[in-house]
Amino acid sequence: MRLPKRVRMFEVGARDGLQNEAVTVPAEVKIGLIDRLSAAGLSAIESGSFVSPKWVPQMADTAAVLAGIARRPGTSYPVLTPNMQGFEAARAAGAEEVAIFAAASEAFSHKNINCSIAASLERFAPVAAAARGNGIRVRGYVSCVLGCPYEGEIAPAKVADVAGRLLEMGCYEVSLGDTVGVGTPLKAQAMIEAVAAAVPREKIGLHFHDTYGQALANILACLERGVAVVDSSVAGLGGCPYAKGASGNVASEDVLYMLDGMGIATGVDFDKLVAAGRFISDFLGRPPVSRVSQALAGKAA
Ligand code: HMG
Ligand code: MG
Repeated sequence: MRLPKRVRMFEVGARDGLQNEAVTVPAEVKIGLIDRLSAAGLSAIESGSFVSPKWVPQMADTAAVLAGIARRPGTSYPVLTPNMQGFEAARAAGAEEVAIFAAASEAFSHKNINCSIAASLERFAPVAAAARGNGIRVRGYVSCVLGCPYEGEIAPAKVADVAGRLLEMGCYEVSLGDTVGVGTPLKAQAMIEAVAAAVPREKIGLHFHDTYGQALANILACLERGVAVVDSSVAGLGGCPYAKGASGNVASEDVLYMLDGMGIATGVDFDKLVAAGRFISDFLGRPPVSRVSQALAGKAA
């Protein structure tokens, strides 16, 4: 087994996690969450989206969130930008990192961003160029890498093609999304091997939703294939508004427990991360989805 010595945990709870919440989460609660996550030592904390407020109302206050957080040196606070309108708003709000998000499934691309994959890539190219011109880092996402709620199976070659295009545009990293959490470990490895022909492994991130309970197994399988960046969502928050039935990303607490247990360094403080998960779960009025957090609560009771 070839495992990385260090993994970069990329926290998406304040964006991917909260974007699907029916209850409006006030900016000050989002700020409280993000500041707790940065205090826990997470170096990348996705903090919102500059998308249409008609499509995703929960993210409409992203500028206020960016204005209110206590930015820690060495921590990045990326935001999603689907087009130039979103990019300009992100830049005005002082974003230092943005993300463009494509899909490996035509049907999902239409549902999520209202255009084809090819049209989305045409829209992303000027965003990536403008970001680079302004010293703003760009991350890329590919959705539906292990299956699509509308199209079913997705060919690994299609994932590799879209991921390669995002890299060519200047993305420093491409995060591969199992949006509906249907993947299993050997399929995940085969997909990584296909993508590695287009994107070097050190520039690949894993973004696995845990709908079918496979995320940790899939992550471990991909760590064995030389990937060392893992997206996760504190308290297991989330879902996708355009993928019915999709549950949250793998819980950050569960990922950290696994990595700590294997002696893989992350720089993240376990107790502070668990406390951040409890903070947002208390606000939402339900227990964290994280199994680790539930186990700790059970032990304390
Ligand atoms: P559209 O309707 O095709 O856009 O939406 P349009 O250019 O025709 O504009 C229509 C209206 O939207 C106009 O307003 C624009 O001003 C406004 P109106 O004149 O009707 O009042 N608009 C915007 N407003 C604010 N910010 C913007 C913006 N752009 C247009 N940037 C669009 C296209 C992409 C905007 C829309 O489809 C959208 O916002 N979709 C939401 C996408 C989204 O946030 N999805 C969830 C995140 S992706 C995800 O979760 C997957 C991921 O986690 C990985 C994984 O799990 O696989 C990343
Ligand atoms: Mg996602």
